[in-house]
Amino acid sequence: MRILGISGSLRRQSHNTELLRNAEELLPPDAEFELWQDLKVVPPYDEEDDVEPAPPAVATLKHAIAEADGILFATPEYNSSVPGQLKNALDWASRPAGKSPLRNKPVAVIGASTGAFGAIWAQAELRKVLAATGARVVDAELAIGHADSRFDEEGRLVDASFREELEETLDTLVDAITARAPAAAAPVAA
Ligand SMILES: Cc1cc2nc3c(=O)[nH]c(=O)nc-3n(C[C@H](O)[C@H](O)[C@H](O)COP(=O)(O)O)c2cc1C
Repeated sequence: MRILGISGSLRRQSHNTELLRNAEELLPPDAEFELWQDLKVVPPYDEEDDVEPAPPAVATLKHAIAEADGILFATPEYNSSVPGQLKNALDWASRPAGKSPLRNKPVAVIGASTGAFGAIWAQAELRKVLAATGARVVDAELAIGHADSRFDEEGRLVDASFREELEETLDTLVDAITARAPAAAAPVAA
C-alpha cells in the first residue's frame, strides 16, 4: 500500500511537514510512505496551460497522486483558509473534470497551526475542495494548535494523545484504502 503525504507548507521547518514525518513512523509496516516535496514548483493554474503535455511539475504531481493508494494531507491555516499554493495544486490535480487522479482516492486531512485551533477552518475547507474533486474524504480529524510547542528537537510529537489521534486517523485511512481494494479471489474448491 502506497501513501502519499502532502504538506500545505513550503517552509523547511514546517510543523505540518513534521506531522507527516510522524505519520510515516506510525504507519503499518506494509505501508510505503512518500512525502511529496515539489509543491513550490507547481505553476499558477492557467486553463490555457492545462493542455497535453502538462507542465512537468503538474505531470509529476498527477503521477504521484495516481500511483498512491491514499493521500494524507497536513495543512496550515492562512487567514482562516487553505494556503494558496496547496489550493492551486489541487486545482491542477482536479482536471480534467471527471478524470482527475483524485477521483475516488481515499484521502485524510490533518493540520497544525500556531494559533489555538489547529487549522480547523483550513482543514474544513480542504475537505470541501477534495470532496469537490471526487476524492473520498475519510471521517477523521487531527487539529494541533500551538504547534510551536508540540514537537521536540527531533520533530517528534511530544504529546502521547496527539500521537494516538494521528494513529487513529491513519487507521481510518488504511481501512478506507483496504475497503476500496478489490477483494482477493477466493480459492477455488478442488
Ligand atoms: C499568511 C499567514 C496567515 C496565517 N493565518 C493563520 C490563521 O488564520 N490561523 C492560524 O491558526 N494561524 C495562522 N497563521 C500562522 C500559522 O498557523 C503558522 O505560521 C504555522 O506554523 C504555519 O504552518 P507550518 O509550520 O506548517 O509552516 C498564519 C501564518 C501566515 C504566514
